[in-house]
Amino acid sequence: MNYRPLGRTGWKVSDISFGAWAIGGAWGSVSDDESLAALNKAIDSGVNFIDTADVYGDGRSERLIAKLKKSRKEEIIVATKAGRRLPKQTVEGYNRHNLTLWLDDSLTNLATDCLDLVQLHCPPTGLYDQPEAFGMLDDFVKAGKIRYYGVSVEKVEEALKAIEYPNVQTVQIIFNCFRQKPAEVFLPRAKQKKVGVLARVPLASGLLTGKLRSDSKFAKDDHRNFNRHGEAFDVGETFSGVDYGTGLKAVDEIRALLPAGVSMSQFALRWILMFDGVTCAIPGGKTPQQVVDNCTASAVAALSPQTMAGVKKIYDTCIHPLVHDRW
Ligand SMILES: NC(=O)c1ccc[n+]([C@@H]2O[C@H](COP(=O)([O-])OP(=O)(O)OC[C@H]3O[C@@H](n4cnc5c(N)ncnc54)[C@H](OP(=O)(O)O)[C@@H]3O)[C@@H](O)[C@H]2O)c1
Repeated sequence: MNYRPLGRTGWKVSDISFGAWAIGGAWGSVSDDESLAALNKAIDSGVNFIDTADVYGDGRSERLIAKLKKSRKEEIIVATKAGRRLPKQTVEGYNRHNLTLWLDDSLTNLATDCLDLVQLHCPPTGLYDQPEAFGMLDDFVKAGKIRYYGVSVEKVEEALKAIEYPNVQTVQIIFNCFRQKPAEVFLPRAKQKKVGVLARVPLASGLLTGKLRSDSKFAKDDHRNFNRHGEAFDVGETFSGVDYGTGLKAVDEIRALLPAGVSMSQFALRWILMFDGVTCAIPGGKTPQQVVDNCTASAVAALSPQTMAGVKKIYDTCIHPLVHDRW
């Protein structure tokens, strides 16, 4: 496993880290035993950073991570999120009272007295024009409730606004072979400002693992079923906002670029790590096998310029018209 500095925090985190949404909920049924096995395999493989949120299974993901931490001696840095408990996303909802309640819940679930990193969970765009909101986060740091804070964003324009705030340490954004816009302006600027970047949805919700087919079925309580068209939350979070059929065709084209011995998931993750403005990818892992496959990406040799150009061409031809100007 390789490690990269996380912004100005002083932490060095595994370039393949762990996304803990699926072990909480919204991805079909998962057993806590299997999830703990996946988490333990991640730590065995050198992962030292886990991304979660208060709302993943209403605290279930955070509580599993607390259990993991109790049973392991390694340092494990946990990034959680706050804001999605609001019944409706409004700028006003991100107030001191609500934030205090959400952070207290996360402190309890994670069984700690100080949260390592708290990210605002895709707040409305207008929040980035409210310095008071970031001032409140500074107060939580001063009070010792949180060590650092950052944001998770939907759009590149939000990411660019967020990093103008001096104490924003991290930005979490969708970045993968099907979501290349952050590479244009945002990643170089984040690098220049020493802001950590967490690349989320790195496997495009499983599409970029190469295992999905036109007749693949998803459980009723899996967002790949119930949020295909953005019925429950931003459609960009499901298959990166790429329509399923187009995604499958593009994956077939990418498959032709794989170096010998490299799995499709490893390729997709290694592609992300080719960008030095990225701190880590946070693939979701439901089983120990998936985690091992994903962690192997850290050691895969750099992709050739021809291969990178090949992925760009597939993006420009098939995907760009669908997503580039939306997020
Ligand atoms: N708004 C936000 O802030 C936000 C939104 C989305 C995600 N996130 C964060 O980003 C993390 C990653 O994104 P994501 O979980 O949505 O999507 P993802 O990482 O692109 O896809 C994860 C899913 O792909 C499948 N998978 C993973 N590795 C595999 C492998 N090696 N082989 C085959 N299948 C594999 C698993 O589902 P199956 O086995 O069921 O196919 C897994 O749940 C989340 O866990 C969460 O921490 C944050």
